[in-house]
Amino acid sequence: MSEIQKSYSIVGGTPLQGRVCIRGAKNAVTKEMVAALCTSGVTNLSNVPDIGDVEVTAKILTSLGCQVSHDKSKGQLVIDTQTLRSSQVPVEYSGVNRIPILLAGVLLSRFKSATIPILGGCQIGKRPVDFHIEGLKSLGAMVEFQDNTYTFKCDQLRGAHIALPYPSVGATENLIMAAVLAKGTTVIRNAAVEPEIVDLSIMLQAMGAIITLETDRTWVIEGVENLFAASHRVINDRIEAASFAVSALATSGDVIVEGADPLHLQAFLNWLRRAGAAFEIREDGIRFKGSKSKLKSVALETDVHPGVMTDWQQPLAILLTQAEGASVIHETVYENRFGYTEALKRMGARVQLFQACLGGCACRFRHAGHFHSAVIIGPTKLKGTELEIPDLRGGFSYLVAALIADGTSILKNVHLIERGYENILEKFTQLGARISVLKS
Ligand code: EPU
Repeated sequence: MSEIQKSYSIVGGTPLQGRVCIRGAKNAVTKEMVAALCTSGVTNLSNVPDIGDVEVTAKILTSLGCQVSHDKSKGQLVIDTQTLRSSQVPVEYSGVNRIPILLAGVLLSRFKSATIPILGGCQIGKRPVDFHIEGLKSLGAMVEFQDNTYTFKCDQLRGAHIALPYPSVGATENLIMAAVLAKGTTVIRNAAVEPEIVDLSIMLQAMGAIITLETDRTWVIEGVENLFAASHRVINDRIEAASFAVSALATSGDVIVEGADPLHLQAFLNWLRRAGAAFEIREDGIRFKGSKSKLKSVALETDVHPGVMTDWQQPLAILLTQAEGASVIHETVYENRFGYTEALKRMGARVQLFQACLGGCACRFRHAGHFHSAVIIGPTKLKGTELEIPDLRGGFSYLVAALIADGTSILKNVHLIERGYENILEKFTQLGARISVLKS
């Protein structure tokens, strides 16, 4: 409860300086914790961040009977699945994060049944799970939905050819984890190919799975009878890297983001170049050096990998409030991911939302009545204010906005940022930001 009441007070105007170190990706590690359940044994994960979502996922695994220990200072997580005894995810974890539904395929393979409480919608869109359900049905699962709970049953999952309606990250991961122990070969077309999913596939391969990524968004998984426990180093977090990059640039600072990997940031770096932002690729990471006067407006759209990540959109929007002219962002992954801009307008940003697909191709939200395009006019001076964080990435963008604003901002609900960013307060303080914790 005290976490929920935590707020930050931020005095804007200090250019960030120094070095910051990126840790393992939230959106890889939580799935890799689930993948450990594909076998009975002791899995070791390294480069594990100390974030709320790892803690919640550890609690979910523990509720199923696993033993999980996290050495936070070393970033090491040990998961012992030999005591796994339940295939029923407790209802208290419904809607806490995306992990319960991702357990469906793995628990089905291990127990021939799984009970998963429904996920709620959230601030960024409805986030349905129909692709997961239809895919698991194709693998032979019988699925019932009653009292807000999905029940899955199947004596033996069998390989199948599945074409996803949209390259969903979660559905691809769920189906890969179900297919590794299915009988026969599974082909998943129009699948997601994000680096975090490739990282998951590398871990599963180390556990004995046979997985191929073909060139046309197709995963081919040859089912095997058993997997074994393995050790795996979690891929670095490209969202954390981009978030600190923008923080450095927007504050006209100079920051080396250690562990930022250009291989996974290519689309992001292209847009920075187009916007006139400076960066230098180094052996230990990427150096970002800001100068607001040089920023130019751009038109970009978010997309599945290898496009611009939807999770980079919010910090990029803050940067574009400081660019000269009218910038356009077309959000094509989530229908409702601009809610956070209302508060930016109160800070002085000039943002207008549109239902039309602006600045790129028509997307699946065309004519659907969602405000999924934004025009941002800059440069504008932002002024500090009180901000209530709506979701993880929107929350980070408020933090950056507060760092460049005149005066003091109060950020409420910071536990939502701490779900996905490790030691955020310490990292920013070390870079010279003037942030302190307020407890109500
Ligand atoms: N979708 C459906 N039906 C489904 C599944 C998805 O219609 O069964 C739609 C969604 O509504 C959305 C789109 O497909 O419009 C993409 O959703 P996806 O399944 O790819 O997203 P996810 O797996 O739920 C993960 C990340 C998100 C990230 C997206 C896109 C995790 C835990 N979450 O979500 O990260 O934005 O992929 O890359 O991996 C975050 O970290 O803050 C975050 C929201």
